[in-house]
Amino acid sequence: MAQMNFLQILIGDSLTILPTLAAESLQCCITSPPYWGLRDYDHPAQIGAEPSPELYVENLIAIFREVRRVLRKDGTVWLNVGDGYARNGGTGNCGPNAVVGNTKKLIQKRNCKVPNCWGLKDRDLMGLPWRIAFALQADGWVLRSKITWIKKTAMPESVKNRPTSATEEVFLFAKSPNYFYNPNGVREASGANLRNYWILGPDPSGNGHPASFPRELVRRCILLGSREGDTVLDPFGGSGTTGLVANELGRKALLIELNPVYAQISKKRTRQRRLFLNMEPMHPDGQGEYTPCQESLDQSS
Ligand SMILES: C[S@@+](CC[C@H](N)C(=O)[O-])C[C@H]1O[C@@H](n2cnc3c(N)ncnc32)[C@H](O)[C@@H]1O
Repeated sequence: MAQMNFLQILIGDSLTILPTLAAESLQCCITSPPYWGLRDYDHPAQIGAEPSPELYVENLIAIFREVRRVLRKDGTVWLNVGDGYARNGGTGNCGPNAVVGNTKKLIQKRNCKVPNCWGLKDRDLMGLPWRIAFALQADGWVLRSKITWIKKTAMPESVKNRPTSATEEVFLFAKSPNYFYNPNGVREASGANLRNYWILGPDPSGNGHPASFPRELVRRCILLGSREGDTVLDPFGGSGTTGLVANELGRKALLIELNPVYAQISKKRTRQRRLFLNMEPMHPDGQGEYTPCQESLDQSS
């Protein structure tokens, strides 16, 4: 039987595109925004390049306020976000994972200067995931779970004064206290309710994006947080993992991605899987109306 798949990628800044989407039109948001000061995504409107982590949190709150508006009343957000260390200049060494494209400028500026906030000192872990979680909670979200993603293959670190970091957080937020969650979507092998630690490896091969989700992480969030036919949103679409997995599971997907290079990667991955794709570039200045497309061609077999 032919599957009805629908994947739409909008190219532009989430902060300007989200307000053009219809209210209460999407079920579930699964996303991983850029981490503060870690990578340079080579675009002036990128999240994560703010001069302070406080501004970064403020920008995320503004984006997720719009996400709340577009989610259905029983909708949820699954937010994967990583931490970072306050560093002081002098070493010039900002980590092996810092370079994206040909520029290191942002990374060096951010990682080598202790941010002047929250009493941070050189080498302090910033605690960003929880700062974001508390800020979202204060902004109206219901914080329902903190899932620890335990990485089977952690990024090597050259540190000798602390354990290597091998976990990240995935927060589950609900728009209201009564929300859709399917406990049977994913269960433990024993049949018990799924636990809040997920031991996951990276996907086998790179796809050209430096920070793709593991597909299994997305699969779990989708199965727990949506029904077949629902629409899943990723406002930081990257290489399109959320969209690909959503389509494989019979969900529609709407991705927003700032950098056209990554949107192209999504397109390529999508073509490989023969899913329907509609890429809509937004006006470069963010002006202009986007009308969600209700039509989809079924090109999958
Ligand atoms: C951590 S990556 C997401 C990777 C994605 N989960 C995947 O599997 O490929 C974050 C993405 O957000 C994009 N981005 C940064 N600022 C943005 C903004 N203001 N609006 C939309 N996308 C943005 C970056 O270009 C980057 O591709």
